[in-house]
Amino acid sequence: MNILVTGGAGFIGSHTVIALSEAGFTPIIVDDFSNSNHVVLRGIEKILGQKPRYYPDNCHDAEVLRRIFREKEIGGVIHFAAFKAVGESMREPLKYYANNIGSLIVLLETMLEFDIPNIIFSSSATVYGEPETLPVTEDSRIPPAESVYGNTKQIGEEIIRDTAAAGKPLKGISLRYFNPIGAHPSAYIGELPIGVPNNLVPFITQTAVGLRPALTVFGNNYPTPDGTCVRDFIHVMDLAEAHVAALKYLINHTAPTIYEVYNVGTGHGNSVMEIIQLFEAVSGQRLNYRIGERRAGDVAAVYADVSKIEQQLGWTAQRTLREALEDAWRWQQTLGIGN
Ligand code: UD1
Repeated sequence: MNILVTGGAGFIGSHTVIALSEAGFTPIIVDDFSNSNHVVLRGIEKILGQKPRYYPDNCHDAEVLRRIFREKEIGGVIHFAAFKAVGESMREPLKYYANNIGSLIVLLETMLEFDIPNIIFSSSATVYGEPETLPVTEDSRIPPAESVYGNTKQIGEEIIRDTAAAGKPLKGISLRYFNPIGAHPSAYIGELPIGVPNNLVPFITQTAVGLRPALTVFGNNYPTPDGTCVRDFIHVMDLAEAHVAALKYLINHTAPTIYEVYNVGTGHGNSVMEIIQLFEAVSGQRLNYRIGERRAGDVAAVYADVSKIEQQLGWTAQRTLREALEDAWRWQQTLGIGN
């Protein structure tokens, strides 16, 4: 079955392309390369032994989608394509709403037009904000979003939920990602941050190769065991495989309409300091870091209750945090200081 993967040249998208292929699906990438690089396609080719099929287009355009849906028989869509920089989203709200919400609406309309029922939406643990209790379950409170980016994820979920609730022939799953890290173990694909990374692990690996002088730990006075923030770090290949599990669930679901939300994490929280220490052990070198101020918008601790996805989709994270850091480090060394 052909599966359209919007944003398939991105970090999570490219790893999901591998997982889909390994599960016997044929991924078709649509990506405008606005925040990704063509080298990802070569990496995918090296892993799979064949060129991935792709459209270098913007999935915000209904005509692009219609052309793909006419040319290829598509059984489902995994929708990764979106802007994701929290800070930028606060400066450029319309850019984020237009792209993240606009593309989802166009995609859903075109899917319904072509009788394509299955959609998996990239949501985020950011929808939980600062949780009242840990771990967070899918029923935990969703407070007003702290960022425009976070709001696009909340609204995106609601759009799919409401479309299904209206009885449209749509089978949808929103996956709430916790903190994806790591790379494919081959080191042919991985995270390719453009410019200075916002996220912790790419910043660590870039510091370790000398691309950045030092990591700043954003605050060590949080109400956590060691004072640094706690997150649920999940290997990107585990996250990729969760999409395959979700897709199979939708395909096998006989009712014409369904909407579900799942947390995708490991169920364990680790602090920023624990990540630094484990990275030092994995890489065999000291990491240059300093303690700095808190970053605006950061929550003290968040990690997932994963019982729903385990029970309903039969998926559970398989890889360790150490493997994730080893793979991230191997990938960074392959890139060298070029990225
Ligand atoms: C961030 C976004 C979240 C988004 C996710 C995508 C914010 C507030 N949240 O999550 O909305 O869905 O990325 O991957 O931007 N840290 C440092 N030094 C650094 C970088 C990070 O100490 O240079 C710390 C942060 O304070 C945080 C932890 O590392 O406690 C993880 O940060 P990050 O990788 O940016 O992820 P989140 O903030 O959890």
